Amino acid sequence: MDPKIAKADEDLQKLISKKRLKSIEDRRVSSEIFDKQTLETLYKLANQNYLAILNGAISTGKEANVLKGLKDDKIADSYVAVKIYRIATSDFKKMQYYIEGDPRFKIKLNNKRQLITAWTSKEFRNLTRAYDAKISVPEPIIAMNNVLLLEFIGDEIGNPAQTVRNQNPLDPDDFLDKLLIELNKFINKANLVHGDLSTFNILNKDEYPVIIDVSQSVVKDHPIANDLLVRDLNTIHNEFKKLGASITLDEIKNKLNLDLDLNKDIYLN
Ligand SMILES: Nc1ncnc2c1ncn2[C@@H]1O[C@H](COP(=O)(O)OP(=O)(O)OP(=O)(O)O)[C@@H](O)[C@H]1O
Ligand SMILES: [Mg+2]
Repeated sequence: MDPKIAKADEDLQKLISKKRLKSIEDRRVSSEIFDKQTLETLYKLANQNYLAILNGAISTGKEANVLKGLKDDKIADSYVAVKIYRIATSDFKKMQYYIEGDPRFKIKLNNKRQLITAWTSKEFRNLTRAYDAKISVPEPIIAMNNVLLLEFIGDEIGNPAQTVRNQNPLDPDDFLDKLLIELNKFINKANLVHGDLSTFNILNKDEYPVIIDVSQSVVKDHPIANDLLVRDLNTIHNEFKKLGASITLDEIKNKLNLDLDLNKDIYLN
């Protein structure tokens, strides 16, 4: 196991065993990868039986770390994915911009922590909306501060599913067909636009797509929804073309029942 994760889990275990102490200061734990609030949040989640152990890193990104956790240390395969937004390196300008245009968030967010909490809860809400519309996404479990727990996508022995970028589909046309069925529900049933759709944010779970990373997804009446949709679909078209799929942009549009010019100019930063 990555020594940093081992240290983080050790910290979490220390917290769990000292849970009667009154404040986090008393617990004298430190961690290289978690700040105090994150550790406190993980501790609360452990205390509420959402999480027992952290046991490995799945991905270390610019804005978030995704770890593998076990819900119950007595049940061998009770894996959960633990997505932790890092306060220090997040792109606050982008978060603010996306949240301000979203009618579900009519609050003024004036500090970074509040903004990250709103961002995490936005991902949770988007995921819930997609999951409720029976779209192939990880099941959301809970969001607390900057931590999101979600269903672990992988096999029974804890190997996470790879992204389509890392594990190209065996039959790109067939895989894209399945993806378009999921995207049709995403757009027309959940009324969401992904906003960062690419082969990096689609997992290949036994040759079926699982859409992930929906924090920046917006409701269809968001002012930039159409531009994001045009960008997403062009990206998917280009990337799958490179993988060998033969579908055209027009066919994609038809399969998604869209009345939209996918060649239009877009204005996104
Ligand atoms: N539920 C899950 N089950 C298994 N693996 C996951 C899950 N969610 C995310 N991952 C893995 O973690 C990686 C990063 O997740 P995600 O795309 O949600 O974060 P991110 O916002 O892109 O992070 P960053 O932008 O900082 O790179 C994914 O590419 C995938 O490999
Ligand atoms: Mg991602």
